[in-house]
Amino acid sequence: MKKLYCVIGNPIAHSLSPAMHTALLEKNQLDASYVPFLLEEETFADAMLGLKTLGISGFNITSPFKEKILPFLDAIDVEAKACGAVNTVVVRDGKWTGYNTDGAGYLEGLQTIKPITHTDQILILGAGGASKAIFHALANRTDANITIANRTVEKAINMVAGTIHAAISLQEAETNLADYTIIIQTTSAGLTKENPELPISLQNLAPGTNASDIIYNPAKTAFLEEAETHGAIIQNGLPMFVNQAAIAFQLWTGLDADRELMKQIVLKQVGGTEC
Ligand code: ATR
Repeated sequence: MKKLYCVIGNPIAHSLSPAMHTALLEKNQLDASYVPFLLEEETFADAMLGLKTLGISGFNITSPFKEKILPFLDAIDVEAKACGAVNTVVVRDGKWTGYNTDGAGYLEGLQTIKPITHTDQILILGAGGASKAIFHALANRTDANITIANRTVEKAINMVAGTIHAAISLQEAETNLADYTIIIQTTSAGLTKENPELPISLQNLAPGTNASDIIYNPAKTAFLEEAETHGAIIQNGLPMFVNQAAIAFQLWTGLDADRELMKQIVLKQVGGTEC
């Protein structure tokens, strides 16, 4: 019987997940569809029951439901549990298991331009949902030292509690920026007219540092522009976005996902570039 996959969120109309997954399903000649569903907070529980009853084969979850899904799961992967957020549900024998593929997706992208070793000092700017996913993937899968800097420093302290990793203020990050080999920008600072300033000055950034942003549209954020002028090797959020979807597809189907195909689909839609 034809399988159904979907992405749930609000808003959802501009999600590029249906285009990427549909292309993968077609390329692999799978008898399946992937569709977007716009859900409301009030009817979320009913919708989950509906998906279960209809026998959904797997789905993605985006904002604002990544935490709301937790009570509906039968099992949760260790990194998703650590993040307290799920972006992918895998269905096995009718049982729902939650995963968070954002962090692994980010790491896969970073590793294509930089092998990570125990000598790496990683600075993550921000302590929101994306930061958490990246932090837990890096902490689980690499032996680099990680520091989280956040405007509200208590959030960073809570994230690293019980780990060997560190939390600092944005001011400390700015002063000691040259100590870091990899800097990951996950804050919403500098992205809009309402929030135009970068989270920190990049004056002290050492040339050759890897600087990445989780945003891919625009292709070069103000943070990446500035980092590049200080000699950083920059990477935008496109690999993370493509890889998180590719990992979800692999979890559902056991098949390798054509990341190049996915990347081209995204670039065609947003008219952007990879950097
Ligand atoms: P996401 O889930 O996409 O990671 P989020 O949870 O809304 O986003 O988190 C936004 C992050 O951007 C937070 O770390 C926030 O800092 P606070 O925890 O102090 O709110 C950070 N942020 C937003 N505006 C900022 C600004 N003007 N300067 C510095 N950090 C900012």
